[in-house]
Amino acid sequence: MSTNRIRKWIFPLLVPGIVILALSQVSGVGHGVATQKANIDVHDTASLQNGAKYYMNYCMGCHSLKFSRYNRMAEDMGLNEASGFSADEVAALLKENMIFTKDEDGKQDKVGALMKNAYSTKAATEAFGTSVPDLSLVGRSRGTDWIYSYLKGFYNDPSRPMGVNNTVFKDVGMPNVLWELQGTQELDHSADKGDDSHGDHGAPKLKLTKPGKMSEAEFDKVALDITNFLTYVGEPAQLSRYTIGIMVLLFLLVLWGFAYLLSREYWKDIH
Ligand code: HEC
Repeated sequence: MSTNRIRKWIFPLLVPGIVILALSQVSGVGHGVATQKANIDVHDTASLQNGAKYYMNYCMGCHSLKFSRYNRMAEDMGLNEASGFSADEVAALLKENMIFTKDEDGKQDKVGALMKNAYSTKAATEAFGTSVPDLSLVGRSRGTDWIYSYLKGFYNDPSRPMGVNNTVFKDVGMPNVLWELQGTQELDHSADKGDDSHGDHGAPKLKLTKPGKMSEAEFDKVALDITNFLTYVGEPAQLSRYTIGIMVLLFLLVLWGFAYLLSREYWKDIH
């Protein structure tokens, strides 16, 4: 191939190449602790709905999601007209299963309300000795693997005020709110820490010492669904972003075709 011919190819190939590389870099940030991989799928609406249900029941009492509204969440999770739900049906479903917060008059929050809760920072600081963060952006700041590992990483530690510690959040101030479902775990000192045969990079091993209401697999699914939900909450637009991303790549492909034809036209008389 002559240099001219190579040069001809470089530009049409370079542009889509750079775009694909940039897109592949957007996801995944390491945080220096050993985490387990969370295989979530933000398009799995059943998983999102289940995660939201658990979140509202077990987490919302302490952690608000102050940038999100109940009805937008329902819409995004497939509780919408396109899936055959009328606005009244969605409102009824939300009020029954998801909305446990109250407005200033002490009435159940409306479907269009922001997901705030009544826990004041002062009360939280007194109760836990630390602030209770809003979790709107935790999916982005901590990442999905971290959240999943965090929810599964509580273990008994009598030296801590809440009686628990956490494998990815040392000396955590949060109680293990899911212990009834999961059971209680303890550090497994007998496990070989350097062993990476499970692909978890030598994370501290835990063993279940008292079973909960759920089997290990059932609990894993709950932790995964809550993680999925928090990932969606961190960036609701990602549901449409993926579709737009594919459209953009298709567009670039077509553009590349035209650019190639054009460059052939330009170079056809030069040998
Ligand atoms: C009883 C109150 C309470 C409940 C209920 C609760 N948390 Fe927490 N959570 C806390 C406190 C307090 C902290 C701060 C811990 C610290 O800073 O040591 C925290 C921290 C966190 C963090 C880490 C945030 C960060 O980036 O530092 C995550 C993630 C989290 N909670 C998720 C959840 C989830 C998911 C649920 C429901 C399954 C839940 N929490 C239920 C009190 C609570």
